[in-house]
Amino acid sequence: MQVLKLTDLDLRGKRVFIRADFNVPQNDDGSIADDTRIRATVPGIRAARDAGAAVMVASHLGRPTEGECRPEDSLAPMAARLSELLGCPVPLKKDWTGGVEVKPGEVVMLENCRCNKGEKKDDDALARKLAALCDIYANDAFGAAHRAEATTHAMAKYAPIACAGPLMAAEIDALTRSLRDPARPLVAIVAGSKVSTKLTILEALAGKVDQLVVGGGILNTFLLASGAHIGKSLAEPGLVGAANKVMAAIFAKGGSVPLPTDVVTAKTFSKDAVAECKPAREVTPDDMILDIGPHSTEVIESIIAKAGTVVWNGPIGVFEFDQFGEGTRRVAEAIADSKAYSIAGGGDTLAAISKYGVADRISYMSTGGGAFLEFLEGKTLPAIAVLEERARK
Ligand code: 3PG
Repeated sequence: MQVLKLTDLDLRGKRVFIRADFNVPQNDDGSIADDTRIRATVPGIRAARDAGAAVMVASHLGRPTEGECRPEDSLAPMAARLSELLGCPVPLKKDWTGGVEVKPGEVVMLENCRCNKGEKKDDDALARKLAALCDIYANDAFGAAHRAEATTHAMAKYAPIACAGPLMAAEIDALTRSLRDPARPLVAIVAGSKVSTKLTILEALAGKVDQLVVGGGILNTFLLASGAHIGKSLAEPGLVGAANKVMAAIFAKGGSVPLPTDVVTAKTFSKDAVAECKPAREVTPDDMILDIGPHSTEVIESIIAKAGTVVWNGPIGVFEFDQFGEGTRRVAEAIADSKAYSIAGGGDTLAAISKYGVADRISYMSTGGGAFLEFLEGKTLPAIAVLEERARK
């Protein structure tokens, strides 16, 4: 994917508009619960400021009604956090679409762009107006790259120069490396509660991967498809046919979908539930499968050890409860220990990586939620597509 990069441009004295994704989790009192996305965007903002640019940072937060900006829609906490991270004042500008005062070497934060009328509809007139605010438009909001909105998409068509910020560029590089031109074997680990929410990802990956490891409720549907008894485990019997098709596609190209021979079960779903490890063939009608067993985990560990690339989305078991966390912990460790190029994305996956303390040994952790999943599905992300188009002109 060819895009112009912010880091390749001369920014001195230029008005640089950086579209960031500061849509971060907040506590009930509005304080920031996790600032990963803000920290990930700091290098681009700092580089532009230090190069002598006048920097405007825009982001959405939540899904407000356009034309209104309630206190809970405000980016004030994010501007304060950015100011701490940059070590300089970051004033928050309201009603900014008609003009923004900012001097070279300064950084300002623009209030929630989704409060502007026309933002979500990717409105052309709004985009042209916003494009006129800057000399250079940089999109560093990978988390919102799957949205075609005025500040993620149309604005890139009209800004004098449109480029990718360093975070966006790193995300594009990491995802391209792992899915478009991967070192083989390519192993994908896809887990989550429902096949239905990830079916398009499973189908897209079936044509690419050498091994597909499934976990969570998705695994239960695959077990059902293989004829196993899964008791009262969460599953989607209506998607057994789809699961069989995914497995057949992978088998047809010589790949495999390892299904567990031992599992960890419980009679109830709760943090105090008693875990029982048993052969998969001994699952009883009142059992729920909440993790894979040690022998099955060993099989996955050895697959990961031989992988050239690992793409990971979704925890293997109910890792929030420690007695069902071993599968996820050992898989996380195996990815961290392997020489494979590894990429992980999605809220639960990053939470598991953080819980097991392996973050610094995963090659790349994506800041995208929906955007990461859509990239895995093989979809074109509009915010990236428009930057590619501009780079070709
Ligand atoms: C996200 O958190 O996935 C992005 O910021 C996009 O947010 P959205 O789903 O409200 O468009």
